Amino acid sequence: MNVALLGGTRGIGRALGRLLAARGDRLFLLGREAADLERSARDLELRAGAASGTTGFVACDLLSPASFAPALAAAWMALGRVDAVVVTAGLFATQDELERDRERTRRLLEGNFSGTVLFCEEARERLLAQGGGKLMVFSSVAGDRGRKPVVLYGAAKAGLSSYLEGLDHRFHARGLQVICVKPGFVRTTMTEGLAEPPFAADPPEVAAAAVRALDSGRPLVYSPGIWRWVMLVIRHLPRFVMRRVGF
Ligand SMILES: NC(=O)c1ccc[n+]([C@@H]2O[C@H](COP(=O)([O-])OP(=O)(O)OC[C@H]3O[C@@H](n4cnc5c(N)ncnc54)[C@H](OP(=O)(O)O)[C@@H]3O)[C@@H](O)[C@H]2O)c1
Repeated sequence: MNVALLGGTRGIGRALGRLLAARGDRLFLLGREAADLERSARDLELRAGAASGTTGFVACDLLSPASFAPALAAAWMALGRVDAVVVTAGLFATQDELERDRERTRRLLEGNFSGTVLFCEEARERLLAQGGGKLMVFSSVAGDRGRKPVVLYGAAKAGLSSYLEGLDHRFHARGLQVICVKPGFVRTTMTEGLAEPPFAADPPEVAAAAVRALDSGRPLVYSPGIWRWVMLVIRHLPRFVMRRVGF
C-alpha cells in the first residue's frame, strides 16, 4: 500500500509508520519539522530494509492550510498513486492549561478541527479524482461526550468525528473509505505527566488496531477495544450524573 502519513514523527503515528514500513508498504511523511521528518524517514527505511532516500517527506503544518495542497501534491508525485492518507497529527493541552490561555485554545481548536478538516478536504478531492482510496484520521474518545476534563479538546474531536462520519456517508459509494480511529489514553508525549486512567495503552497496540482497520476499511475503531463499551455507557449517562462525576 502507498501511504501518505501526517504525524509520523512521534507517538502513535511513529508506531503506525514503523508497522507499515516493516511489512513493505511505501510511505511518504508529512509534518512540521524537516529535521524530525528526515530522522523518521531514515528510521523507516532501516526497518523496511530499503535504500536511504526512498522514503520522502515534505513540510505540512495543520495550522497553515496553505501548506496542505503542495504537501499532498508532493506525496502523489513521490508515490504515484496514494492508496491511503493517514492523519495522526494532533494537539493536546489540559483543560486547565487551555482555560488560562486563549491563544493556545485557538491553536488547539484550529489544529484539531478546522485545520484537520481542511486537510482532509484536500485529500478527499485527490483520492476521489484517482477513483477512490482510504482516509484514516485519529479523533478521540474525548469527542464522544462533553466531559469536565476535556471540554475544549473534546469539542474539537467531537466536530472532527462528526465530519468523518458525514464524509463516509457522502462519498463511500464513490470509493472513498473513511476510517475514524478513537483511541483512549495512550502513553505518548501527548499524555506525558498526566495521571493514567484504566485501560491505558502503548502506541504499538493502537497502531496495530489502526493497521487492521486500514486493511479492512472498517469505518470506526476504538482502541483499545474496551473503549467502545465504556463510551457506550458514558454516552447514555444522564446529565445529572455527568455533572457529579469527575470523568
Ligand atoms: N495519546 C493519547 O492518549 C490520545 C488519546 C486519544 C486520541 N489521541 C489522538 O491520536 C493522535 C496521535 O496522538 P499521539 O499521542 O501520538 O500524539 P503525539 O505523540 O503528541 O504526536 C503528535 C504528532 O502530531 C504532530 N503535530 C502536532 N501539531 C502539529 C501541527 N500543527 N501540524 C502538523 N503536525 C503536528 C506532531 O509533530 P511534531 O513532532 O512536529 O510536534 C506529532 O508527530 C492525535 O490526533 C491525538 O489527538 C491521542
